[in-house]
Amino acid sequence: SEDLLFSYKGISYPATVCSPEQFKALEAFEARSDDVILAGYPKSGTNWVGQIITDLVTTCAKNDGDETNNLNDELDEFPYLEVGDAEKYQRMKKLPSRRIIFTHLMPHNIPESIFKNKTKILLLLRNPKDVATSYYHFSNGLSPLPSYETWDEFFTAFMTGKMPWGFYFDYIFEWNKHIDDENIMTITYEELKENRAMGVKKIAEFFELSLTEEELQGVVDRSSFQAMKENSEKTHGAFGNVLFRKGGVSDWKNLFNEDQNQEMDKKFEEYLAGTKLGAKLNYGVHCK
Ligand code: A3P
Repeated sequence: SEDLLFSYKGISYPATVCSPEQFKALEAFEARSDDVILAGYPKSGTNWVGQIITDLVTTCAKNDGDETNNLNDELDEFPYLEVGDAEKYQRMKKLPSRRIIFTHLMPHNIPESIFKNKTKILLLLRNPKDVATSYYHFSNGLSPLPSYETWDEFFTAFMTGKMPWGFYFDYIFEWNKHIDDENIMTITYEELKENRAMGVKKIAEFFELSLTEEELQGVVDRSSFQAMKENSEKTHGAFGNVLFRKGGVSDWKNLFNEDQNQEMDKKFEEYLAGTKLGAKLNYGVHCK
């Protein structure tokens, strides 16, 4: 299954959706200061928060009488920065503001102009045990990624960083270097799960999207797990079933054995103990 992946700057990516040619073109991508960017490690809830963002932006655009600016609708392709072909950035140039962009890239692989233009980035975090659990099921479902014979085999790959888009702990560690950037706000999967209305409001304020209470409530209602799962065939086709799997917190308890549990705790200590992003993960609450 190794040939499903290729390597770029030491990190592997699925050849089915990314390409080395596109990565070369990526450096020339020009961010706008009003682009709306969602960053997160795979399986952190990107599609969930992505829908919330898209809903907020399109509702605002409608109010303002603007054209639609959903990358997905306009170009009929994935709104991920690193997914597509080398000409994607040329097509993106023609899109009206505000463009919505998702990415799983680590900050040092993100085009310079995003940081230079102080483009706002919402950084989505999810506890590593549930991320690994979700990633395992996704890899073994209908996905463009290599599959695994057993959970143990997957766990070893996850813990040694042999994953598409790289090692979870490197990802958080690298983003932690940007935690004090004024243009970055974090949100966790778990806080959004606990209070979706508050999360939606927080996201709208961060991107300076002004909606009425009623409109905000609409965004909240449309982003429940149930609603998104029911709508998933329309939004994600055959991927719907694997993308909207369980949508909860602590499913890792069904997969991790005690040794794996301790190994993950040790990695957390080693990489993230004492860091700001480590604290935001609320590891002690969600991973014990
Ligand atoms: P599980 O596999 O634990 O169910 P991503 O979009 O980054 O690939 O993340 C996928 C994870 O987000 C899946 O986790 C999926 O169920 C969860 N998810 C998607 N929509 C959700 C929603 N509306 N509410 C809660 N979780 C959601």
